[in-house]
Amino acid sequence: MPPSRRPIIRAHLNRPAASGPDSCPEAVFDVLSEEQAEAAWAEITTWPGYAPTPLRALDALADRLGIAALHYKDEGERFGLGSFKALGGSYAVLRHAADWLAEWRPGESPSLASIREGAHAEALAGLTVVTATDGNHGRSVAWGARMAGCRCRIYIHAGVSEGRREAMAALDAEVVRIDGDYDDSVHLCAREAIANGWTIISDTSFDGYMEIPRTVMAGYTVMASEILDQLDRTGKAPPSHVFVQAGVGGLAAAVCARFWQRLGPKRPRFVVIEPEQAACCFESALGDRPATVTIETETVMAGLSCGEVSLLAWEVLARGVSDFLTIGDERVGPVMRLLAAGEAGGGPITAGESAVPGLIGLIGAAADETLARALGLAAESRVLVLGCEGATDPAIYRAMMVPGPDDPPALPAASGVRHDD
Ligand SMILES: Cc1ncc(COP(=O)(O)O)c(C=O)c1O
Repeated sequence: MPPSRRPIIRAHLNRPAASGPDSCPEAVFDVLSEEQAEAAWAEITTWPGYAPTPLRALDALADRLGIAALHYKDEGERFGLGSFKALGGSYAVLRHAADWLAEWRPGESPSLASIREGAHAEALAGLTVVTATDGNHGRSVAWGARMAGCRCRIYIHAGVSEGRREAMAALDAEVVRIDGDYDDSVHLCAREAIANGWTIISDTSFDGYMEIPRTVMAGYTVMASEILDQLDRTGKAPPSHVFVQAGVGGLAAAVCARFWQRLGPKRPRFVVIEPEQAACCFESALGDRPATVTIETETVMAGLSCGEVSLLAWEVLARGVSDFLTIGDERVGPVMRLLAAGEAGGGPITAGESAVPGLIGLIGAAADETLARALGLAAESRVLVLGCEGATDPAIYRAMMVPGPDDPPALPAASGVRHDD
């Protein structure tokens, strides 16, 4: 097979740094405390329209791959926004609105519920939140701003689809499209925020900017808690492996931290998957420090097209993730169609482009005897993948449903974990 058609392009496995203490280390609690995860749960689960998203059992695919169980957390219907991102940016906007009010009215500490109910609408009309985005995070911020009753301005780059722009505009955000790339949109957002006294609600952290992305990650932990509760309620054991995709790493870090907090030494092995074109977590793992990569070509997995790992996320990933993989774009369409056709089990599933990398990583690992063994994938493995978005851009989704002449099969011919026994 030519290199670009291999399911897994690069693998960096068994990092010694992540085979450290079994129980959740203090450094991970410092990034995300149990109190922060519990506060996010207490707030978000009271929002109108809240319902746990389905945890689907992909039994047919588990059989094909020779593993005991495969669960797919289907975030397509999260709050009607189409992705798990609905949990993070929106929550951070509400929390910031509360802090902002408390700053202007010393002695008051308004509850998030009172903000959502419009009790502070007049004052909050003076707050503007901004962010730069590829789509899903911006949609969440716009929705949070609408709940809070504050103003919202979103910066998107030239490559963000029109469908994603419209979805944010429909939530009353003022959307500014610029000529450059993602980094240009981040820089313009930062410049204008400083000049105008607006607040940046970003899903990624950097030196001097940690608290808002921490709150965003706390919001994501609601999904991790739901998964553990869903498995528990149905009498199923926690997963042995989690295959999770990464952009800046916030999603992977939030799930890793929450599982570690709740499961301690019984936590699963975490495998992080990224597009080869934007492998900032992979490069960070290789060098054992936060890395930046230059994105030369855009991946079809739009939500993962990030060149710089989030510093806060890296604090967790460095300690909690032993394995990193990169994949190409080739199998994104085929695996989306496999799920749509219901061939994996669990019924027909609408999975967006950024929802399938975990599954592609698992399929590729299972097809490669050496990799499967190195990852400890075996007949008794119970794998969790995070289907973190649905058809967030319906036009792109429809296009991806049409097979291309050069598409590889969703499952490589050699698929199936082989065992020595
Ligand atoms: C659908 C989807 N999945 C995964 C990710 C990656 O999350 P993170 O950037 O926190 O790693 C994103 C990021 O925007 C996304 O939109």
